Amino acid sequence: MSVTVLGLGRMGTALAGAFLAAGHPTTVWNRSAGKDDDLVARGAERAAGAAEAVAASPLVVVCLSTYDVVREVLADSAEVLRGRTLVNLTSGSPEQARETAAWAAGHGVGYLDGAIMSTPPGIGSSAIMLLYSGSPAAFAAHEDTLRSLGDAVHLGDDAGTASLYDTALLGMMWATLGGWLQGVALTGADGVAATAFTRVAIRWTAAVNGFMSTYAPQVDAGEYPGDDATLDVHLGAVEHLVHASAARGLDIEVPGLFKAFIERGIAAGHGGDSYARLIDVVRNGGRA
Ligand SMILES: NC(=O)c1ccc[n+]([C@@H]2O[C@H](COP(=O)([O-])OP(=O)(O)OC[C@H]3O[C@@H](n4cnc5c(N)ncnc54)[C@H](OP(=O)(O)O)[C@@H]3O)[C@@H](O)[C@H]2O)c1
Repeated sequence: MSVTVLGLGRMGTALAGAFLAAGHPTTVWNRSAGKDDDLVARGAERAAGAAEAVAASPLVVVCLSTYDVVREVLADSAEVLRGRTLVNLTSGSPEQARETAAWAAGHGVGYLDGAIMSTPPGIGSSAIMLLYSGSPAAFAAHEDTLRSLGDAVHLGDDAGTASLYDTALLGMMWATLGGWLQGVALTGADGVAATAFTRVAIRWTAAVNGFMSTYAPQVDAGEYPGDDATLDVHLGAVEHLVHASAARGLDIEVPGLFKAFIERGIAAGHGGDSYARLIDVVRNGGRA
């Protein structure tokens, strides 16, 4: 299967490299010259313009900085794209994905919107996920080729779903990294190396995964039995984090947020419930 890659930034270069490594004839285009030299040396075809690149392959993968740039780059290629499949791996919102899917449908283009759950060095490994949503027929036709980039997970026919998951998962990443940085600073203040703390922290995240598996069915059922740990118990523990951080002169904004979040659930009368009860605080704009 021949593939075209539009956009050779950090990510687009890794995507094109993975297609080449998997043996797919690959045509590349980038706005600025010079970024394709290494790929061409590895066998890629250089196209003079975006429309020429689109015409070279039935599968067109685009990875540019924003959706506005995608629309700008494809503005003159709509007719060339007709009958082909466009896979948009640019990061954006679910709304932008749905708008682009409507544009593609209006021009007879098969459309998949995607989210890359990795940085460029992970591309090509089956250990990383790329999330796709949109046309099931387009996914079925190109799944094998897309697996050159990493594990390919199709989330359904609504093109906005991959971006929806992407934004949710990035939120989880920042929450986790924020908590990790607090832990590194806290233990580091007493002389623990970040690498030593992190060895233990990684084992702890496996336990946290277990908590999510326990709490997800509670959220779906709307029932939050506090039979493992109650919000009252969490409050006592988070107060230790706030105290220990303050005692070492550390910023307490992140632990303070955790504490305020738990306090809202308790103030609404849910101190005996599990942590999952706090979904009400999130869903109700801060009120439990
Ligand atoms: N890097 C990551 O770890 C990562 C992970 C997941 C998702 N993503 C997503 O992948 C997309 C690309 O990220 P990246 O890291 O590859 O960014 P990047 O290195 O900054 O590359 C940006 C690309 O967009 C092109 N571009 C920007 N404005 C343009 C315009 N007006 N016309 C034509 N081309 C234009 C650039 O072309 P020039 O070379 O000509 O400037 C370049 O090819 C983003 O949506 C990003 O959120 C990245």
